[in-house]
Amino acid sequence: MDKLVIEGGYPLEGEVCISGAKNAALPILIASLLSDEPLNLQNVPYLQDIETCIDLLSALGVQVKHKEASCLLQANHVTNFDAPYGLVKTMRASILVLGPLLAKYGEARVSLPGGCAIGSRPVDIHIKGLELMGAKLIIDKGYISATTAHLPNKKLQGCSIFMDQVTVGGTENLMMAAVLAEGETILENAAKEPEIVDLGNCLIKMGAIIDGLGTDKIIIQGVSSLKEASYKIMFDRIEAGTFMVAAAMTGGKVVCKNINPEEMESITQKIKESGAKVEVREDSILVCGNKKLESVKIITAPYPAFPTDMQAQFMALNVVAEGVGEITETIFENRFMHAQELIRMGAEIDIKQNTAITKGGNILTGANVMATDLRASASLVLAGLVAKGKTTIERIYHLDRGYEKLEAKFNILGAKIKRLN
Ligand code: EPZ
Repeated sequence: MDKLVIEGGYPLEGEVCISGAKNAALPILIASLLSDEPLNLQNVPYLQDIETCIDLLSALGVQVKHKEASCLLQANHVTNFDAPYGLVKTMRASILVLGPLLAKYGEARVSLPGGCAIGSRPVDIHIKGLELMGAKLIIDKGYISATTAHLPNKKLQGCSIFMDQVTVGGTENLMMAAVLAEGETILENAAKEPEIVDLGNCLIKMGAIIDGLGTDKIIIQGVSSLKEASYKIMFDRIEAGTFMVAAAMTGGKVVCKNINPEEMESITQKIKESGAKVEVREDSILVCGNKKLESVKIITAPYPAFPTDMQAQFMALNVVAEGVGEITETIFENRFMHAQELIRMGAEIDIKQNTAITKGGNILTGANVMATDLRASASLVLAGLVAKGKTTIERIYHLDRGYEKLEAKFNILGAKIKRLN
């Protein structure tokens, strides 16, 4: 298993090009299932999760040509409607094939994703929404078997769906299912993340009729088929935020390029509150670190509030900044596993239910630490960049799921990171 060895203490300087968004690319790749025509994607990030998603789509019969950041997909020979546990357990977003397969083919058999390190992550809202659209779903031996065979023209029926909880995946699954359903579907209490807007804009380019993207009420008029389309995936907000925190923590000066600053507001605001200097430009953000950073208060919540995927990174900032910081995680029930590893590096963190109180002003010392989930591993990299001495991070396959060439991008900015296998 690969590990990273980081020598801390080097301020980061320079420019970094932010890659395409993992959490937009995954549902957009899966949206290819809805069409018989080619879908030509640009700015697809090179990540393990993307490879796993392409393996799943290929197993279903989708033709995929993936070269660097381009991906050409055509799903006119889908013959298999089964998403096996082996693939789903490594990439939970596989559950997103459920809506498109049901909408296009009237049948699907998808493994329940099961829980993961950060929480139980149920998919009950996905299931309830599809049932409201008329599908029959049976859960047996860890699999969801779904069909629309009993429905008129075997088609899902558009309807009004109120989602009890704001769910990114649930909104995506049901929006894709509604694209080919009979009639109008209204998704109430929908998630507003930019990645959902990106998926919706791609579906519209494919011929879908969708209103209300970016609001909590999305209205979809079902259509009978979709057409050939090309689409460029949006930038990765979380990768950009990770580099902004790194610049602040190392006292460096970093420009994050190819981004839309308007979609970074809640993150940029917290970087400013930490005392780093921020210059927002049209498609980039400059962050200049400050020797004396201040701890910040974070409460995670659905967009446009502070994203849960940036919580671990700001914990690494808080433990080296001055003062007491407070991080409250409201989305997932077990997303503080990076805290124990940071404590082994000298951090002072006290966890009470879903709030982590950090005592700042610590000098971290390099140690052997273990990544437990994707964003936790990012926070350990950030801590390693400022710790005294060497930090070795084990199990960095977690990191490779969601960051494209992270150590290479950091080393170009002056970090000293080696990958050992
Ligand atoms: C997406 O996960 C992202 N993953 C996550 O990013 C992100 O943390 C999360 O949204 C929140 O923003 C992808 O887009 C691939 P949810 P998702 O459904 O869709 C509960 C990363 O690091 N819920 O919005 O699985 C659920 O338990 C990953 O890139 C139900 O109760 O998240 C959670 O508490 C981690 N029933 C809350 O909603 C459901 O049917 C939000 O989950 C669905 C969700």
